[in-house]
Amino acid sequence: MSGSMTTQIKNQKSKIENHSIVVETQDLTKIYGDGDGVRALDGVNLIIRAGEFVAVMGPSGSGKSTLLNLLGALDRPTRGICAVAGQDLAKVRDLDRFRSKAVGFVFQLHNLIPTLTSVENVEVPLQEENLSDKVRRERALSLLKLVGLEARVHFLPSQLSGGQRQRVAIARALANQPAIILADEPTGNLDSKSTDEIMDLLRQLNRERATTFIVVTHNPAVARAADRIVTVRDGKITRDEKIENVYLEDLREFKQSALGHAILDGAVPAELNGIGLDQVAGQVKEVLEKV
Ligand SMILES: Nc1ncnc2c1ncn2[C@@H]1O[C@H](COP(=O)(O)OP(=O)(O)O)[C@@H](O)[C@H]1O
Ligand SMILES: [Mg+2]
Repeated sequence: MSGSMTTQIKNQKSKIENHSIVVETQDLTKIYGDGDGVRALDGVNLIIRAGEFVAVMGPSGSGKSTLLNLLGALDRPTRGICAVAGQDLAKVRDLDRFRSKAVGFVFQLHNLIPTLTSVENVEVPLQEENLSDKVRRERALSLLKLVGLEARVHFLPSQLSGGQRQRVAIARALANQPAIILADEPTGNLDSKSTDEIMDLLRQLNRERATTFIVVTHNPAVARAADRIVTVRDGKITRDEKIENVYLEDLREFKQSALGHAILDGAVPAELNGIGLDQVAGQVKEVLEKV
């Protein structure tokens, strides 16, 4: 990450403390099937404030998508409270309207309609609005400009690269100016260059439009661009850290591991000498003693 980006993120972070809560869950639980079904999400308490950029990490099957689906009202919890954009989702009468107004979705597979052009895809969520065709078209075009796709507005998804398709999906997610964007592995199918570009775009939108982002990712580089990393395991939040504390926590965890203890005891396992750990063990020991 560039120095200037780090500074910008820090500046933004200091403002977040005072911001209103956009996501609040209490004991949020989802069990698939009945009785001893799969406990996909298990008693999650989470607070996210306006303007935050949160990465959600965790192994496959840990409940990340389930969490996002509940936040976006794509699914209903078995138990617990889920409030998004000031509304208790259990009490929302018109969930379709809530979904199209309050949240924007970006998925790993873009879900664009293959027979519609970029601009027509972005217009889809605007259909519900009482807009003239002309105004709707203007809005969609300005959104595509915002995501850097002004030269591709009349292309079909099949005529776009993966990164470009994801830009259309982001423009579509932004169409109704939602309080929150939920992105489930939005860079999962992209090469590293497109991944960087999409992440830069999401961060830029987060800063300039103060939209809150919750982004599920397996990619540590993507997570590093966030303000905060929430780690899910077996349906529970096991770590929740501001980005500046994440690596310190990693070091503390390492200190508690078998290898960490061995290094602190001055006893690097001989089987690791082949990779040169013995040569730096003294320095690593010094570092571990400080954390
Ligand atoms: N519709 C479903 N029916 C039954 N089990 C499901 C369903 N969706 C997810 N699960 C299970 O819930 C757990 C969490 O899944 P998911 O939230 O998709 O994990 P992740 O996104 O972290 O990979 C997994 O064990 C998965 O198999
Ligand atoms: Mg998933």
